[in-house]
Amino acid sequence: MLSAMRYRPLGRTGFDVSTISFGAWAIGGAWGTVEDGESLRALHRAVDLGVNFFDTADVYGDGRSEQLLARLRRERREPIVIATKAGRRLDPHVADGYNRKNLTAFVERSLKMLGTETLDLVQLHCPPIDVYYRPEVFGVMDDLCRAGKLRYYGVSVERVEEALAAIEYPNVQSVQIVYNLFRQRPAELFFGEAKRRQVGILARLPLSSGMLAGKMTASSTFAADDHRAFNRHGEAFDRGETFSGVDYVTGLAAVEELRSLVPAGMSMASFALRWILMAEAVTCAIPGAKRPAQVEENVAAADLPPLSAETMAAIAKLYQRTVRPLVHHHW
Ligand SMILES: NC(=O)c1ccc[n+]([C@@H]2O[C@H](COP(=O)([O-])OP(=O)(O)OC[C@H]3O[C@@H](n4cnc5c(N)ncnc54)[C@H](OP(=O)(O)O)[C@@H]3O)[C@@H](O)[C@H]2O)c1
Repeated sequence: MLSAMRYRPLGRTGFDVSTISFGAWAIGGAWGTVEDGESLRALHRAVDLGVNFFDTADVYGDGRSEQLLARLRRERREPIVIATKAGRRLDPHVADGYNRKNLTAFVERSLKMLGTETLDLVQLHCPPIDVYYRPEVFGVMDDLCRAGKLRYYGVSVERVEEALAAIEYPNVQSVQIVYNLFRQRPAELFFGEAKRRQVGILARLPLSSGMLAGKMTASSTFAADDHRAFNRHGEAFDRGETFSGVDYVTGLAAVEELRSLVPAGMSMASFALRWILMAEAVTCAIPGAKRPAQVEENVAAADLPPLSAETMAAIAKLYQRTVRPLVHHHW
């Protein structure tokens, strides 16, 4: 092992999951060309390094991501937890679609794609806010648990208010939310509430779509089928899912300022991930990775010493001055 993985409890599920886990969107699609052989090597490398939690969705490559994870599970003996999502197959994507018939069908499809009889964790996939005012939706999820189709359920949300509404439902075990150096609001009110209720938190876009790894420049280009090209302004889905909703030039300038705060010997990606883990309420970060080398760099963050109080204060100041006005009250 390059470094020792650390684990934190995921809500009240009894799962202890790796603090650096694996986001499996990019290996499904919408991030330019990916090759399954390379994706599998990245997944295997993650397991080699102690990663035991994988986040996917039925819509990532229309099942391609789930099928790669099914294969990973077949090829490894180590126990792994796979969290998938349901809801985004709906077209139009409306609250009424979150009904018993559709949710059951989505779950049945994921069971097939993942080649299993019970799903570990199913997250409602950024549903319209109205869903949180429909207790019957959560009742359906309870019934699916009782029927043995899934062990646990949680939600993935766009906004802090949705997260707060979700955790009022007693059987919501996890909330997935954008939390990174460029999106700090979840820590203000939501994290304390989630911790109090023992709800797990999955920090997504931990690298702000890769920008916080510090390798992008003003002249970087992205393939036409990469959301970093086609969703810059929210043309296809919520604009907050691409570079956290921070415009490219502002983001790059903030990354340059952050660079001076990175301790000697630490990579920028590890720095960004270590910052996330400073929040005790966070269960894990789920960086997307397409290659074994990215997995290795990301996993290294699990074993790093805490960032100093001075560094944390400097990051907070930088956030206030640079990206806060662009994001803070938007999500
Ligand atoms: N609505 C939702 O529920 C939702 C939405 C978004 C994401 N998610 C989940 O959250 C996960 C993470 O978010 P994300 O994938 O959007 O963003 P992210 O983790 O911030 O960025 C991932 C991308 O950054 C690049 N990267 C990763 N490690 C790197 C490294 N060490 N050095 C340089 N570049 C690196 C890779 O792309 P390149 O190599 O091409 O640059 C990778 O695809 C997803 O995979 C998915 O599971 C869920």
